[in-house]
Amino acid sequence: METIRVKEVEYNNAPAHHQLYHQNVKRFTEEFKTIHNIAPKFIIQTYGCQMNEHDSEKMSAMLINLGFEETEVLEEASLVLYNTCSIRENAENKVYGHLGSLKSLKRKNPELIIGICGCMMQQEHIVETIKNKYKHVDLIFGTHNLHLLPQLLNQSIAADDMIIDVWDNADSVVEGLPVKRKRNSKAYVNIIYGCDNYCTYCVVPYTRGKIRSRRAEDIVAECKLLIDEGVKEITFLGQNVNSYGQDLEKKVSFAELLTMVNAIEGKFRLRFMTPHPKDLSDELIMAIANLDKVCEYLHLPVQAGSNSLLKAMNRRYTVENYLEKVNKLKRAVPDITLSTDIIIGFPGESEADVDDLIELIKIVEYDSAFTFIYSKRGGTPAAKFDNQIPEPLKHQRFDRMLKVLNQIVKRKNAALLDREFEVLIEGKARDKNYMIGRTRQNHTVNVLADGIEIGDFVDVRITKAGGFSLYGEKLSNE
Ligand code: 5AD
Ligand code: SF4
Repeated sequence: METIRVKEVEYNNAPAHHQLYHQNVKRFTEEFKTIHNIAPKFIIQTYGCQMNEHDSEKMSAMLINLGFEETEVLEEASLVLYNTCSIRENAENKVYGHLGSLKSLKRKNPELIIGICGCMMQQEHIVETIKNKYKHVDLIFGTHNLHLLPQLLNQSIAADDMIIDVWDNADSVVEGLPVKRKRNSKAYVNIIYGCDNYCTYCVVPYTRGKIRSRRAEDIVAECKLLIDEGVKEITFLGQNVNSYGQDLEKKVSFAELLTMVNAIEGKFRLRFMTPHPKDLSDELIMAIANLDKVCEYLHLPVQAGSNSLLKAMNRRYTVENYLEKVNKLKRAVPDITLSTDIIIGFPGESEADVDDLIELIKIVEYDSAFTFIYSKRGGTPAAKFDNQIPEPLKHQRFDRMLKVLNQIVKRKNAALLDREFEVLIEGKARDKNYMIGRTRQNHTVNVLADGIEIGDFVDVRITKAGGFSLYGEKLSNE
């Protein structure tokens, strides 16, 4: 596997045609500035997971380097980019809806460049639909070539027709792309791209390709830089973070990577998502227990609560394996909090399967959960299973499960009253008397705003723990 380095400074030595794309797009933004007296503006609408959010942060930085400015007002934009998600049908439908409504904007402003990228574009039938039904789109590209945005824009600016460039897969890891982070105190860091697990409901292996780990030294170097810049929390990103490093020439385990980054000097937190339960090793559990910067929180997607469904989903663990790992975790890290992903309505699911899931939820006592109704994804094995569950039944079961889950989450929240936590302040709360932050265990807390800033670590006592929200106040230093 190859590593491509595309650092802005390295463009001086990059092949001549790369420099040309940059120069051309920069010329476009400069000419725009001369004519309109303002820089052309872009807006990126991001759907889906943190991986997509981080991809958008990279594209934002590339566009800013090319002379664009960011806006949040659609009508002001010269470039609209949709970074799309395919995980469930409603994510796709939202994009189609927005694309449709852009038609009138494009009519008013024919110069507007409309681009779509991300997971939806990795599927041929979707690209076909856009080609045929949304002819006002200018540019289509995929998840594997977003680093070529300057080149693609250059082509799009020069052409009248729709530019389509989607790669089936990627053999390389691209290093050195600039990033424009949404928040200064927190940063995402990709550690592994793609997924080889092929859970039968999931489209990700088809849209994000085979696993490709970044070299540990590149990850550590990026983290060092971030900590030097004042970042207080790093979240490692990957579809299955604990398969990290197994595809590298010199194998590195995920726990070893955590240990390396934990050794960087400075006060910061380390989180990661998402680990796969089948790969949750004792080594990783001990790393969570022993490494001071690694937070006491784990998102451990269970998806289903019965062995027959787990098998049909190709999850490759049993309820018993999962619970054994949860017990080990709770023993090794006593104050750990757990969250999960749950799918209701997978083909073949029975009421008894839902009972089993509820039983598992009660045993684990999750602190929070992301709950989904199964959505048929074209090209995945489960979409062809003939025992699909009717929609109304899915919803009935979903409500039944959610009732129990919510009771547990609320009970666990209420038990936090009067407890003390270190909170990392992330931003302003909706109520301007409060700032909002997170504990190491990932509880969101509204903290009375007297004299605290974004990026501060504040010791807080929980003063109100009603429903799903927590309130607290800073402890005095005496
Ligand atoms: N339908 C519903 N939920 C899904 N997820 C993945 N694929 C589907 C699907 N086809 C959920 C899983 C995964 C989370 C990111 O999205 O729970 O962990
Ligand atoms: Fe999808 Fe399964 Fe890979 Fe997660 S592990 S991205 S659910 S295929």
